[in-house]
Amino acid sequence: MKNKAYTFIILAAGHGKRMNSGLPKVLHKIGNFSMLQHVIYNAKQLNPDNIAVVVDLPLIERLECFEDIQLITQESTLGTGDAVKTAVRNLKELPDTDIVVVQYGDTPLIKSSTINKMVSCLEGKALVCLGFQTSNKEYGRLIIEDGSLREIIEAQNGENSDKEFLANAGIMVAYAKNLRELVGKIECNKLIHEYYLTDIVSIAVKSNLNVGYVITEEEEAIGINNRNDLAKAEFYFQENKRKFFTNIGVTLAAPETVFFSLDTQIGVDSTIYPYVFFGPGVKIGSGARVGPFTKCEDTTIGDSAVVGNFVEVKASYIGMDTKIKHLSYIGNTKVGLESNIGAGTVVCNYDGKRKHKTNIGSNCFVGANSSLIAPLNVHDDSVIAAGSVIVEDVPERSLAIARERQVIKKIK
Ligand code: UD1
Ligand code: MG
Repeated sequence: MKNKAYTFIILAAGHGKRMNSGLPKVLHKIGNFSMLQHVIYNAKQLNPDNIAVVVDLPLIERLECFEDIQLITQESTLGTGDAVKTAVRNLKELPDTDIVVVQYGDTPLIKSSTINKMVSCLEGKALVCLGFQTSNKEYGRLIIEDGSLREIIEAQNGENSDKEFLANAGIMVAYAKNLRELVGKIECNKLIHEYYLTDIVSIAVKSNLNVGYVITEEEEAIGINNRNDLAKAEFYFQENKRKFFTNIGVTLAAPETVFFSLDTQIGVDSTIYPYVFFGPGVKIGSGARVGPFTKCEDTTIGDSAVVGNFVEVKASYIGMDTKIKHLSYIGNTKVGLESNIGAGTVVCNYDGKRKHKTNIGSNCFVGANSSLIAPLNVHDDSVIAAGSVIVEDVPERSLAIARERQVIKKIK
């Protein structure tokens, strides 16, 4: 977004009763990152001048550290309208000419390109909303007359038609001046004692202001209120990632069995075999192979490296052309270039209290079924005999054998 100043207001307060959880709703995870992290991550793609998150006290207590974010506390969670009012009142600065993007923390899959479309649509209007077709009655409804948006009506209990309708995705884009004036006029809904943000549409229409709308798909606009929504959103997220990686030149042998995190990176011409799980913090180079039934987390894998079948790699760095082909656990380990880690190698990185580091150099050969007891350094060009339990550092260009000598006795 260029030449204009943007502020994001992300609503994240309220427990989310329908989740039936001890955890505040927006901290539930999709692709191994909280919904709130998704929304902030996508907002940052647009380089906004300011991001504010409306929180309540139970959420603040459990928040991970967010850099460059202003947290605004909503004293009592009196609805989405009250949350935006609180934000507008407490933002460090909010010049009238700023474009404000109001987004719900429980709507994590909204793309930055859709927000851009809404911003383009704002020209000559006070406010732009986002709609999508659905038959799920829990969403508010956009009422369109003569091609323009007149009102948003909240879901009514007891509605039971299966017909699709145009639902409110929740995200709104407005100029700060208009938003400030409009939210100031929201009245408390007497039935449920809440202030509905959605009321600003009819308030704007009554003041003769233009309100626009943009339409997207349910796969993007899904709002998460319960665990079924959460499972659906996880599915949509994974489907998107699978399409994304295949589009940029990664082969997924059975896409529906591979699971990604929000921050997974994979280079072109890499191949991912079935049933692979990528936890957070994984970066894979190009031309690499990750074999079936493998889990990687917090790990960098170099170009042309092979992490094979039934391998778990955690908090590690695997150098270019290195091969770990079968049934291994590699944790807190750095492996150099062109090394070969034999089948069944286990890095024993945890002593029950702390994790320890292992360094394996370049061009090393670790024989099958070795246990490497960390902390440990295995220097370049060395060889570890199969079945060894290695507890001491191995110098360069040396062979380490650490196993019982075989004894043969005649049976009488
Ligand atoms: C809201 C919309 C509905 C829309 C749907 C889209 C209103 C009144 N309704 O309903 O039209 O179809 O989202 O998913 O806005 N929050 C606060 N403070 C509060 C209350 C809520 O910060 O006092 C935050 C929540 O953390 C949540 C978001 O606002 O992330 C939306 O609240 P929620 O209760 O989920 O609204 P819906 O019932 O889903
Ligand atoms: Mg919701």
